[in-house]
Amino acid sequence: MRVNFLPILAGLASMASAQLQLGCPDALRYGTLAFSPTTVDPGATFTIVANMTCANYLGYTPTYLDYYIEDTANNNGHELPTLIARRTYNQSADPPIDTFTAVLPSGFWFVGAEYQLYMYNSYARTAPAGDTVIIVGAVAGSINITGY
Ligand SMILES: *[C@@H]1O[C@H](CO)[C@@H](O)[C@H](O)[C@H]1NC(C)=O
Ligand SMILES: *[C@@H]1O[C@H](CO)[C@@H](O)[C@H](O)[C@H]1NC(C)=O
Ligand SMILES: *[C@@H]1O[C@H](CO)[C@@H](O)[C@H](O)[C@H]1NC(C)=O
Repeated sequence: MRVNFLPILAGLASMASAQLQLGCPDALRYGTLAFSPTTVDPGATFTIVANMTCANYLGYTPTYLDYYIEDTANNNGHELPTLIARRTYNQSADPPIDTFTAVLPSGFWFVGAEYQLYMYNSYARTAPAGDTVIIVGAVAGSINITGY
């Protein structure tokens, strides 16, 4: 008796794909960002973990990942985004995680400001005339800056 495994394998693959798809809503297309601790003094370190599982799955594999701290509330007009790290994404990373330790610089921090750590995912697309261009999307999380 000959058993044909191909339909079984195809069935399993589509189940796995459907499961991942369920876990990868569009909102996760630029990746997910976590960091710890979320309250940091200038000079202190914090660990950033960016998970590109869904970004890769949904077709937004980064070329670069840039991390900035931005003042999104009570901005007095002088508070511009501050670069924390600029990284070339390893597209072979398995698992597809960008993790590293960052140091919070003694930057232009202001009492009463509300800061967010932004991750910019710069990813490649083929433009209508055929050029490859890099476009960007971002996700963010709240960070408290204290002790300055
Ligand atoms: C920031 O600090 C406030 C006041 O201590 C706290 O309620 C809030 O949870 C902190 N946020 C983060 C992201 O750690
Ligand atoms: C990354 O995200 C995927 C999909 O949500 C999840 O299954 C995996 O556990 C995450 N990995 C880490 C290290 O958080
Ligand atoms: C990228 O990830 C692959 C797979 O983990 C690893 O073998 C390779 O050394 C990494 N490349 C860089 C530049 O870190």
